[in-house]
Amino acid sequence: MKISFAEFELPGSGAVVVGVWEEGVLTAPARRLDETTGGAVTRALAASPRFRGKRNELVPIVAPPNLSVSRIVLAGLGKPDAADARGLEDLGGTLVAHLNGVGETRATLAVDLGDSALSPGETAARLAFGAALRAYRFDKYRTTERPERKPSLSALTVTGPAAEARLAYRDLAAAAEAVAFTRDLVSEPANVIYPETLADQAVGLSSFGLEVEVLDETRMTERGMHAILGVSQGSVRPPRLVVMRWNGGAKDAAPLAFVGKGVTFDTGGISIKPAAGMGEMKWDMAGAGVVIGLMRLLAARNAKVNAVGVVGLVENMPSGSAQRPGDIVKSMSGQTIEVLNTDAEGRLVLADALWYCQDRFKPALMIDLATLTGAIIVALGHDHAGLFANNDELAERLAAAGKAVGEKLWRLPLDDAYNRAIDSDAADVKNIAGDRAAGSIIGAEFVQRFVNKVPWAHLDIAGVAWSKKDAPTVPKGATAFGVRLLDRFVSDYYEKG
Ligand code: BES
Ligand code: MN
Ligand code: ZN
Repeated sequence: MKISFAEFELPGSGAVVVGVWEEGVLTAPARRLDETTGGAVTRALAASPRFRGKRNELVPIVAPPNLSVSRIVLAGLGKPDAADARGLEDLGGTLVAHLNGVGETRATLAVDLGDSALSPGETAARLAFGAALRAYRFDKYRTTERPERKPSLSALTVTGPAAEARLAYRDLAAAAEAVAFTRDLVSEPANVIYPETLADQAVGLSSFGLEVEVLDETRMTERGMHAILGVSQGSVRPPRLVVMRWNGGAKDAAPLAFVGKGVTFDTGGISIKPAAGMGEMKWDMAGAGVVIGLMRLLAARNAKVNAVGVVGLVENMPSGSAQRPGDIVKSMSGQTIEVLNTDAEGRLVLADALWYCQDRFKPALMIDLATLTGAIIVALGHDHAGLFANNDELAERLAAAGKAVGEKLWRLPLDDAYNRAIDSDAADVKNIAGDRAAGSIIGAEFVQRFVNKVPWAHLDIAGVAWSKKDAPTVPKGATAFGVRLLDRFVSDYYEKG
């Protein structure tokens, strides 16, 4: 779908979308269309008693009189004083879904907010951003889909002050592309994306100005990363640890660090998972996918910050060479780990990736993302990711950024009382507590044992990385949850001088 910006002009074909405020108050373009059509808009509203002009409510007027457009779509805007960027993104996304649903090929959005808090250029850019996010589709393997089931919308024109809108859209377009990139990585099956090929995808981002380094199995062994290596040892696919660096900030400023769990497929290993739903475990690398997409975005928009992304990439398989429950491995930190359940593998990956990151880069702060526990879905469902932190300011900043972009976080506690549950009789720490109590907190406590004094946060994204239903700016499938959140976190708090 091609998106462009233009000054308002009534189109000669396709759909035209105009805004209606709550309680049916017409915006200027809606009034103009009402006049041109001899009152078709007013009549359509009168005939739609359930339409209140609330956000995202739509009323289509097909083949309106006196016009060559195929349809007018009246779009509810809510209350004028409540109009905001997020709401416009949702409207842009909702409209794309609607127009694709009715088979439109071209559409013009003339959603004029008049004197609202948002400038007309920003309004147009946010509508376009929402539209771009919703238009994402992972369909490269669908070779027999009927044409009438494919998205029809090929061109979207958003009207407003075009130069201003294009400027406001520049970074948002980069964000939409980074989100699509991450969604692609997460959607790809595990026979296509495995540690080596995922590392290749990161290497491909050097064209954006990122410095990318790949540690292979030999280098990982030299570094003593036996926690990650133990997870990998049952697979014929060799592991990788990838480091991505973006230096857009002051020369010797400590970087912000982002660390991702990249289990390209999680069978559970010898502690094997049940067959039902195991295919979902192709997206057990979503944390890594988000870190890679975020680094791409920071580079693409030339962020004024130093950042480092570290992803630990492995496949967790059962085999004759696989790690056994009860095995004891020595992590890069020197701590020994008793692996009592080979399905609690994400924390083993993070243990070495986090340690390596803080040891080598001395970051100003460190944030990890991981599809770590099924228990976070029990606790929070699919609406919030779990947030754990050893620093209140960091936690508050992350929660605020999440709220601003609509990727919500909910903080859960860390406490020594939980931490004691992973003391091992045979080693320094064990990778499970042994009962089902507080599963996500236990996972976070394990991870924290590999974090030193640096401000650190852990995002458990197991419930939000993949969605089974469409949302306004997130079609079902891989969500890329975290890319927009962390980009906002960086720009709101670390780029303002
Ligand atoms: N990748 C899974 C967590 C997961 C579950 C992600 C469902 C997405 C959806 C993780 O590696 C795992 O298997 N965790 C175990 C931990 C347990 C063995 C302590 C779990 O949640 O069951
Ligand atoms: Mn697992
Ligand atoms: Zn896993």
